[in-house]
Order: sequence, then C-alpha cells, then structure tokens
Amino acid sequence: MREKRIETVIRVFDSPETLPASDRELLNRARASLEVAYAPYSGFLVGAAVRLENGQIVPGSNQENAAYPMCLCAERVALAAAAAGFPKVPVRAIAVTARSRRRRLDTPAAPCGACRQVICETEERYGCPIAIILQGATGPVYKLHSGRELLPLAFSGASL
Ligand code: THU
Repeated sequence: MREKRIETVIRVFDSPETLPASDRELLNRARASLEVAYAPYSGFLVGAAVRLENGQIVPGSNQENAAYPMCLCAERVALAAAAAGFPKVPVRAIAVTARSRRRRLDTPAAPCGACRQVICETEERYGCPIAIILQGATGPVYKLHSGRELLPLAFSGASL
C-alpha cells in the first residue's frame, strides 16, 4: 500500500485591497453581477465574473426557478455565456462572491460540485488553468491556481 496525496494551495488575502489589480477588478465585477441575481427562493445571491484571455469580462448570477432543481448557479451562467459569446477565447479566471439575506457571509463563497466540474471541463477545453478568486460578502479572499485544485480526481473526457 502507498499513499497518494493531492495538494491544494490556497492563497489567502486578508482583503480585496491586497489582491493584484486585475483580480480585484474581476471580484468587483462579480459583486456587481450579484446585484442582478434572481434568488427569491433561497435569498442567497451569488455573483460571478469570468475573465477571458483577451481581457473581456463576462458576468453571471444565480437564476432561480419555482421548480427548484432548475435553479442555475452564477458560475455556470457566466461560463455558459462566455462559451456562447466567445467560443474561441480561453477562460483565464473566475471570481465568485455571495450575499445572503439571512446571515452575514464572511467566509469565501465555495463553488458547488457541479460548478467545479464545469470549471474543470473548461480548463480541458482550452488547455489552460483557470484562476479561482473567492470571497463572501466580506472577509478574506481565497485564490487558487486552477479548478483542478478545487476538484481533485475530477472525472474528465480523457477517461471516455
Ligand atoms: N449557487 C450558486 O449560484 N453557485 C454555487 O456554487 C452554489 C449555489 C446558488 C444556487 C441557488 O440559487 C442558491 O445559490 C442557493 O443554493
């Protein structure tokens, strides 16, 4: 028997002010997207913003439905909009933030498993890692080098 370890490196910034300027801008755009989230059922508003290789920023926010399982996550809305509008331009980064109508969110918003899978698919599609920048309504900002780090042992098309 031997052990195999998978390491995830999270760079922690105490506030957005200490982030590199381009990451801070992306996070600000994610926060602006959150304002147009449609989340009447959960009261949990999520904003995402994707940065493309050409510098273009594509926003996304969660879009809920009275038929609950149809709710769309902000990350996948942003990634789908990027893929639909700019299919040939690689995605280089995604920022995600959230605000709850019920409580103070001071820990970073973590993408759900399905969104992690889609981030990994996008990395494979364009052959480059996507930087992940996460913050709650307030508090520290987490930065990860790639979606792979958020989803170790991800299922991939390479297995098919
Ligand atoms: N949500 C996102 O937008 N992204 C995630 O990664 C997790 C959850 C949304 C879906 C739903 O509208 C609300 O947050 C509560 O789950």
